[in-house]
Amino acid sequence: MSFDYRDTPGNTDWFIHDRFGMFIHWGVYAAAGRHEWLKKMEQMTDEQYQRYFDHFDPDLYDPAQWARMAREAGMKYFVITTKHHDGCCMWDTALTDWKVTNTPAGRDLIAPMVEAFRAEGLKVGFYHSLIDWTHPHYTLDGIHPRATDDEYVRANQNRDWDKYVEFLHGCVRELLTNYGRIDYLFFDYSYSSRPAEGLLGPGKGKDDWHADELIALCRELQPGIIINDRTEVPQDVTTPEQVQTPAALRDEDGKLIIWESCQTFSGSWGYYRDQLDWKSPETIIKLLIDGVSKGGNMLFNVGPNGRGQFEPRAVERLQAVGEWMSLNGRSIYGCGPCDLTPPPDARFTRNAAGDRLYLHMFSWPFKHIWLPGLAPRVDYAQLLSDGSELKIVPSDRVSHRLPAGAEDTLVLEIPVQKPPVEVPVIELFLK
Ligand code: GLC
Repeated sequence: MSFDYRDTPGNTDWFIHDRFGMFIHWGVYAAAGRHEWLKKMEQMTDEQYQRYFDHFDPDLYDPAQWARMAREAGMKYFVITTKHHDGCCMWDTALTDWKVTNTPAGRDLIAPMVEAFRAEGLKVGFYHSLIDWTHPHYTLDGIHPRATDDEYVRANQNRDWDKYVEFLHGCVRELLTNYGRIDYLFFDYSYSSRPAEGLLGPGKGKDDWHADELIALCRELQPGIIINDRTEVPQDVTTPEQVQTPAALRDEDGKLIIWESCQTFSGSWGYYRDQLDWKSPETIIKLLIDGVSKGGNMLFNVGPNGRGQFEPRAVERLQAVGEWMSLNGRSIYGCGPCDLTPPPDARFTRNAAGDRLYLHMFSWPFKHIWLPGLAPRVDYAQLLSDGSELKIVPSDRVSHRLPAGAEDTLVLEIPVQKPPVEVPVIELFLK
């Protein structure tokens, strides 16, 4: 029965099954501790930003600990920022000196991370920024940190964009050659709709990146790799960011589109010490459930700090999500949308075989759950977290309570107390 997804070039079966990944935004900006866009937000010169390069010393970095926490949280793949918009390479590239091996970190940080996450059984994804605010031939546009620096803007005229494109493709070649099998490449991002402003060029898109060649390079080096949509050339995955879709995404033929929402703990991707708007474990779990109920994945972000650690606020939430996943993962992995309308403030998922429905209760109603049309289809119901039966109330006992014509409504009797889990899940065994 599986799920009717649109075919795409990459091997996406594992991705559709695994549903839940860890995003990691880590770079020298972690030493600043106030967002990965701080160079733009604070309009820093290269010299001002250099201090984070000079002081990036993740002496407590332990990728095996990160990988264990990701696995225990129920995450099945991870995506690491190999280079963010600041242009600093997290691996030992031969193409620039602006790399972490030249910071106090003094080593390639990608290699041990890939090894550790693979050892925990997670698939490997690389995030790679198309944008680069440091490369000497990356031309200025409105989102560049030096966009308001007239001298810098004038010097922009001498830049040779082709040299940057050669660098961009060279970095991707290194990353897809030197680190074994890479399962997913998350490019970020295109903004060609942004108009030119004075001496500042327009935003950049697929033609600027030579995206078709770049994608062909990826598929030549890593056959089967999954690639996202942010080069402006749609590939395997659509990637809404910090939003949830209102419904499953389908193409003009009605086939499901593979999508993945990426979400943060607090709104910042990079480590942000003073940001307080942190999501609760319940919210995080609901975002995951909501996505799967609409045929999507969730890539949930952690921003490690300048010492190379996940901060306590992140660790405790990952543990809470992992506890829920350890009991309820059966309603997430290998599951997807069904064609039923759930009760208010609930979500349905179903398994690929189509013989199990999972009802995720975002709020806990009093004593009964009413499921129109399901009485003839359901053989048994249980609370997934403890495997305890939920009694199906025989229709002749409820008919006086059911509106006329609702005889096919399945009525479940539920405890008055909400079960002791963040989001209770009811497993329905279909006949
Ligand atoms: C946006 C942000 C970038 C972040 C990305 C994650 O593109 O600019 O900082 O890495 O979202 O999807």
